[in-house]
Amino acid sequence: MNLQDLIDLKTKALAEAEAAGSADALEAVRIAYLGRKGLLPEIMQQLRDVSPEERPQFGKTANELKNELSDIIKSKQSGFSSCASVGVGFDLTQPGQWQGLGTRHPITQITDRIVRIFQTLGFTVADGPDIETVWNNFDALNTPADHPSRDEQDTFYLKNGDLMRCHTSPVQVRYMMENKPPIRIISPGRCYRRDTPDATHSANFHQIEGLYVDEQVSLADLKGTLSYFARELMGPDVKVRFRPHFFPFTEPSVEVDFTCHVCHGKGCRVCKNSGWIEILGAGMVDPNVFSAVGFDQSNLSGFAFGMGIERITMILYGIHDIRNLYENDVRFLSQF
Ligand code: DAH
Repeated sequence: MNLQDLIDLKTKALAEAEAAGSADALEAVRIAYLGRKGLLPEIMQQLRDVSPEERPQFGKTANELKNELSDIIKSKQSGFSSCASVGVGFDLTQPGQWQGLGTRHPITQITDRIVRIFQTLGFTVADGPDIETVWNNFDALNTPADHPSRDEQDTFYLKNGDLMRCHTSPVQVRYMMENKPPIRIISPGRCYRRDTPDATHSANFHQIEGLYVDEQVSLADLKGTLSYFARELMGPDVKVRFRPHFFPFTEPSVEVDFTCHVCHGKGCRVCKNSGWIEILGAGMVDPNVFSAVGFDQSNLSGFAFGMGIERITMILYGIHDIRNLYENDVRFLSQF
């Protein structure tokens, strides 16, 4: 064997070691070259037959072969044995596979944002059940016996006479029955109505209810609180408009509009050229509600408000069909 043969052999041996795909294959390479009856001991014996000019370089190359091959075998052996110790046949040195990261549902994200804004004002979260009594959902909220929302065509009734709450307002009733003023609560939750599903209606949707009861709470407090909320949610330039309205459980009642987030009040297709978008209902708690929950109203007053979370989510994200929020299509959800 001359020097060139040895150099070729070295290249071949290192390549074989690199290519070995299992502990057994690697051991076979080791035995073939480094074993007692392997090629390398045999080559060393031939050293004296090599011409004196090539001999130093031949010896050096043979040593390199031995050392480099041993290094490769040693490092690959430890990789194979750690595979064996976790009981799997894969190569732990391979890069991992990206599993993808989940995100919270847009409804959850917006709910959390709204709740956090009110928490900075000292409101705490209170919740109530989806199944309610007629009394909590309607009677205690001063809703007249002939109010259309009580109709079976609008509200889901259960066989036992209870119902699926059609708004989050009954949480007010529950909370006032169990707690004394001052009260500052915010109550997100699911609501149910017999609506035919379309781009803006769903039989199951979400609302957030707010209630503040104390001595000397005024309409000015309501306006200040909701104006702060509007700026925190939409940005510092938003304007807020209060329009007289009617709700059975508040007197006076208002509907609250924010300036359109698309045209900022100039008028566009989204706000039907009015410059305003209706966001929520609110008002001063009706004395009849205080009576229903047994509060002495002579020195108490309060405000309440309620808003639809889907509507606000759709406005903030520019979603045009409410059904996108319920279909759980990952292509849609992964955008948020
Ligand atoms: N419950 C009303 C609805 O479902 C929303 C609402 C309006 C809640 C005024 C309130 C309120 O607490 O004061 O449309």
